Amino acid sequence: MGFLTAEGQTYSRGLEGVVAAISAISAIDGEEGRLIYRGIDIETIAKYSHFEETAYFLLFGSLPNKSELEHFSAELTEARELPSRVAEHLKVLPPDPHPMDVLKLVVAHVALYDPDKHKTDRKANLRKGIRIIAQLPTIIAYYHRARQSKEFIPPNPELSHAANFLYMLSGETPDEENARIFDIALMLHMDHGMNASTFATMVTASTLSDIHSAIVSGIGTLKGPLHGGANERVLDMLNEIGTVDKAEEYVLKSLAERKKIMGFGHRVYKAYDPRARILKQYAERLSEKYGDTRWIEMGKKIEEVMIREVGKKGIFPNVDFYSGIVYHFLGIPKDLFTPVFAIGRVVGWIAHVLEYTEANRIFRPRALYNGPLEAEYVPIEQRV
Ligand code: COA
Repeated sequence: MGFLTAEGQTYSRGLEGVVAAISAISAIDGEEGRLIYRGIDIETIAKYSHFEETAYFLLFGSLPNKSELEHFSAELTEARELPSRVAEHLKVLPPDPHPMDVLKLVVAHVALYDPDKHKTDRKANLRKGIRIIAQLPTIIAYYHRARQSKEFIPPNPELSHAANFLYMLSGETPDEENARIFDIALMLHMDHGMNASTFATMVTASTLSDIHSAIVSGIGTLKGPLHGGANERVLDMLNEIGTVDKAEEYVLKSLAERKKIMGFGHRVYKAYDPRARILKQYAERLSEKYGDTRWIEMGKKIEEVMIREVGKKGIFPNVDFYSGIVYHFLGIPKDLFTPVFAIGRVVGWIAHVLEYTEANRIFRPRALYNGPLEAEYVPIEQRV
């Protein structure tokens, strides 16, 4: 066999087009701009379902009946609170960490208090997975309160997963419309095929490590600006542009300088991302509701110029483009946009970990070697 050298070999940079697993959780038709969760179009999910039901659907494989849904929702509600030592620790963090780093840290921290911490069997992984889904919003909201030196607002069991997060952030119960829009946004982010962070969680889980470690891998991967971190940068860009009349010039200049416009483009979609279409509609609605259309007007102008200039290359808005505007009007601070992405995506991570490890095989690809095949070991005294 010998060494696997680069000579005469091709490989897929960024694993583009490489099939790494079989999954029944979600699928993307990148040409048509379609996303399905276990066969149901994302538009239908967004219209009729809600976080708890869709989470159950992705985790267990079928839509819950009434009592299954009640049981599952109660399990999530009961698991929201954090161990007190974990919560207290949020008050003594160094100043100004990135909230995604806090999320990574605290998921690792709660793992130490998990009642199933020494178990990695399937049932324990499911129990732990449900607790992680329930705790993520509390971690983010508590951290946000602690960094402002404000008291924690304990979870309200009367509120849904989505409404409770907004409540824990500010202490105000969101109105029905805002809670529903946030609920939809979370569902839109829940799963998306073999994206980078899902793959990262699966790689970790495939070593039969524990599920908290897998989720920590996912959080670290989601943080990057080419993945979940793009939504924050969209708002930075809108801030930088300032007014709608400057949007076209900004986009043209960026494209001429070969700079990427955040919130556009996708490895799989070569058409309009259906999640972006849904979020755009809510970004419009909230802009109207709060009487501030500056962001959405800029967003629509950027979209128009991008589609005109690079639409033929298959570059369209992705999920991150309009989500920032929606979150802004829901009162979510910009640096929490990516953690909020994680509140949704964690469901997909856990569903994939459970699915993949059922017929587990450790992920272990190869790399082509392009270093020297013969090199001399020079003693340190003789090195220059
Ligand atoms: N703005 C301008 N041009 C873009 C672009 C963007 N957002 N995204 C891709 N392109 C262009 C690239 O410049 C490249 O052009 P070229 O063929 O003329 O060199 C071509 O489209 C392919 O881009 P590439 O970066 O190789 O695609 P990828 O599949 O590796 O990357 C993303 C996909 C999502 C990482 C990429 O589109 C991107 O960086 N987007 C911005 C970040 C973002 O919104 N991420 C969130 C994803 S949900």
